[in-house]
Amino acid sequence: MAEAQARQRGGKAKDVSVAALAEIGLRFEVDGEIATITLDRPEKRNAQTFATWSALGRIGESLPEQVRVVVVKGEGPSFSAGIDLRMFTPEGVPGQGSFSSAARSGGADFEQRIRQAQAGFLWLRRPEIVSIAAVQGHAIGAGFQLALACDLRIVADDVKFCMKEPALGLVPDLTGTKPLVELVGLAKAIDICLTARIVHADEAMRIGLAELVVAGGDLEQAVQDRIAQLLAVNRDAAVATKRLLQGARSRTLEEQSVAEGIEQAARIKALFG
Ligand code: ACO
Repeated sequence: MAEAQARQRGGKAKDVSVAALAEIGLRFEVDGEIATITLDRPEKRNAQTFATWSALGRIGESLPEQVRVVVVKGEGPSFSAGIDLRMFTPEGVPGQGSFSSAARSGGADFEQRIRQAQAGFLWLRRPEIVSIAAVQGHAIGAGFQLALACDLRIVADDVKFCMKEPALGLVPDLTGTKPLVELVGLAKAIDICLTARIVHADEAMRIGLAELVVAGGDLEQAVQDRIAQLLAVNRDAAVATKRLLQGARSRTLEEQSVAEGIEQAARIKALFG
């Protein structure tokens, strides 16, 4: 398996070395067309920090061009227990401050930090890749939002999604609100977020949060099987189709039909020109 001290985009050095990521509790491996990001702090249930999110952003910026599928998974019993609760203490996370220090430093600065954190999630929607969250156990708050940042969610039957932020006086701000509403509808999204209740596997499957539910021991194989299906499809057609599907909601039927024609003309030219 080739380790990803990957080709750099934009000429800027991005440290995604094994050592730098291990310090943050992340692993990143590239094997041909498949990249795997593993939250690797199981003893703390893969709690996330600002360092996690900026490392995710660096991984996105340095993703090798050949990668077509990105798997996001968590080591241990939980996918992720969300933001590191030390952020809520006066001491905060060493080197990363706390919410109290952020509040003192003023709103604009903090908004900027949130934008940077969000960049770690947003790239998972690029048309050039399909991202898959492999989710077992708890996916709480930032953990739930990381799963929502991916195109697909394949889950173990012990999955527990929970949007805890409102219960803590916060809003979900790691890009999760839009995909949640798009997946489950506004009423169900309000129900899930404003109660901060747990969504178990059967409901997740029923309301469209999960593509597939499998027994915990079968999760890895189920993800591999889905990857094999995805990689069997023509790459350029997959990219163009994802682009079309992503744009569909914001276009009228007429506009979408035009967009289909443009993409298809490009495909026909590439295939037969
Ligand atoms: N931040 C920091 N440490 C955490 C977090 C977290 N979010 N979640 C768990 N841990 C730590 C625990 O403190 C504990 O550490 P310790 O062994 O040093 O005491 C260790 O991980 C194991 O946690 P347990 O609670 O013992 O594990 P269990 O499997 O019984 O429960 C669960 C898991 C349900 C996830 C529980 O840990 C929990 O409720 N965590 C907090 C979830 C939370 O409120 N997250 C914030 C959401 S809001 C947001 O993300 C913006």
